[in-house]
Amino acid sequence: MTRRAVVIGTGHYLPERVVENTEFEATLDTTDEWIRSRSGIERRHFAAEGQTTSHLATRAAQAALDDAGLTADDVDAIVLATSTADLTFPSAATMVQAALGMTRGFAFDVQAVCAGFVYALSNASALIASGQANRVMVIGAETFSRIMDWTDRSTCVLFGDGAGALLLEAQDQPGTKDDRGIHSTDLNSDGRHKDLLYVDGGVSTQSTGHLRMQGNQVFRHAVEKLAKTANTALDRAGMDSTDVDWIVPHQANIRIIQGTAKKMGLPMEKVIVTVQDHGNTSAASIPLALSVGKARGQIKEGDLIVTEAIGGGLAWGAVVLRW
Ligand code: UT7
Repeated sequence: MTRRAVVIGTGHYLPERVVENTEFEATLDTTDEWIRSRSGIERRHFAAEGQTTSHLATRAAQAALDDAGLTADDVDAIVLATSTADLTFPSAATMVQAALGMTRGFAFDVQAVCAGFVYALSNASALIASGQANRVMVIGAETFSRIMDWTDRSTCVLFGDGAGALLLEAQDQPGTKDDRGIHSTDLNSDGRHKDLLYVDGGVSTQSTGHLRMQGNQVFRHAVEKLAKTANTALDRAGMDSTDVDWIVPHQANIRIIQGTAKKMGLPMEKVIVTVQDHGNTSAASIPLALSVGKARGQIKEGDLIVTEAIGGGLAWGAVVLRW
């Protein structure tokens, strides 16, 4: 038997305010047509004033608990992927722990920017495999609207706010390709590329800062690295792209999503796409896409899923799991 981390609940939350591309036309030298054609984004959600990342994360996590029919004290750990925590400390994860009414276990944040959810899933899988936890809530939540430079048309039209959550549970599976749960992960980073995507401020430099990105350079790395990490993770699981039911990619740009699917030899019918409605929600984009994909009736129990993401660092990676 193999002890695996199996998804038993999903949930997501999007702030109420929806901003269409056309809203940017009033203040920036941009068009709905440019944003749609270059990125695939049509609209995004922005958090209300005073609404923080832990608020969004708590709503998503509560929805995942409800989906599983469990309560907060049934969970041993919370792993929250975010680059936009409410405060410098404590972690947003401990804030979610308190807000959910969870009085035991442990909680911590993971920061790997847009690859954060893949890193968090990998950590949660290891916590479960090693027996340190039986149930782990894995959340991706962001308020990137707080770090936008609203005068920079090359970045501020691309990002949005939101949260998604998966509840994982340790289950003994037969130890075959058909097992439910996480089969493999592949994590990578290369800090030499730190200037391609970063925030020009932080605690140690004593400012909040704004997101800066050399978009076309990040694009080049994404196309090169995402199919490779997905195939590496599949190989590690003893599988290949013919086993895949769904690619659930980081939702940054439809052209990157299409390019990765093509490199993997898979049609777009096997890709969950939400970028048009959410924009790039960084670490929240994969759990949002998983939760929305399930709600749409696309993702079903037994489906083999590969998730992949890349972002600031650069940091990138992939996870193979059977739903
Ligand atoms: O999630 C983390 C990882 N991030 C990503 O994966 C993002 C990766 N990058 C991208 O998605 C794309 O590179 C972008 C959508 C950011 C940009 O698309 P692109 O095809 O790479 O365009 P570009 O940056 O090469 O810019 C082309 C032109 C430039 O004008 P010139 O220099 O050719 O005259 C830009 O100034 O488009 C211009 N431009 C805009 N025009 C209208 C940039 N932003 C805008 C805009 N509206 N909002």
